[in-house]
Amino acid sequence: MIAVRDRLIFALDVPTAAEARAWVDRLGDAVGFYKIGMELLTSGDYFRVLEELAARDKKVFVDLKFHDVPATVAATLKGLTRYPVTFCTIHGQHDGMMSAASQEKGDIKLLAVTVLTSMDRSDLRQLGIDREPSEVVVQRALAARAAGCDGVISSGQEAAALRQATGPGFLIVCPGIRPAGPAGDDQKRTVDVPTAFAAGADHIVVGRPIRQAADPAAAAEALQAQIAAALGS
Ligand code: C5P
Repeated sequence: MIAVRDRLIFALDVPTAAEARAWVDRLGDAVGFYKIGMELLTSGDYFRVLEELAARDKKVFVDLKFHDVPATVAATLKGLTRYPVTFCTIHGQHDGMMSAASQEKGDIKLLAVTVLTSMDRSDLRQLGIDREPSEVVVQRALAARAAGCDGVISSGQEAAALRQATGPGFLIVCPGIRPAGPAGDDQKRTVDVPTAFAAGADHIVVGRPIRQAADPAAAAEALQAQIAAALGS
């Protein structure tokens, strides 16, 4: 059973370790699960921050969206098992890569990125995929599950279809959360918190709505309250 307060994952999209630490201090008990991604990678302190988060009893989501030949991605997962990592992402576009990675993931939960929430139908068409994002998301999720992944990243807009297709136990993690509706930024397939959980999401990933709030800790606590209400706990 996933703890209610672990449902919120904060996207620690900052360029330096100093800023990362300041955010962890600022958010305090309001956030217990942190996603660290490509922006922090270039700080040179990525793994230092990762270990500091774990030392502060925070869960860590490594969001580097691996995508390479199967042997390389599998070796990367194997290396990552030396660190205290709860979730890790891989692109969900190649069954052979996902299954090679799944065999080396140890206790890490491997999440396949289906279709980025910054992409809509016209972006998919440009890639030569003339189908609705929701169809592509479900197809890729079923392939990811068959390849041994533990779950997927998707928009809350596809969570209900995903839950129906995959059944219980397969993790659905939703970024693109906009508590006050679309914000006019790079996210195109957005939902609010109650919609995500009503649709069957297990976790939500929230970055800018917390980082750009006047009082980020209060904004995070407000999201925690919305999550608890949505789950009836
Ligand atoms: O700031 P915002 O709330 O849009 O942050 C969303 C986070 O989720 C970003 O760190 C982004 O990299 C990540 N993400 C996403 N869409 C995906 C996978 C990850 O927005 N499909």
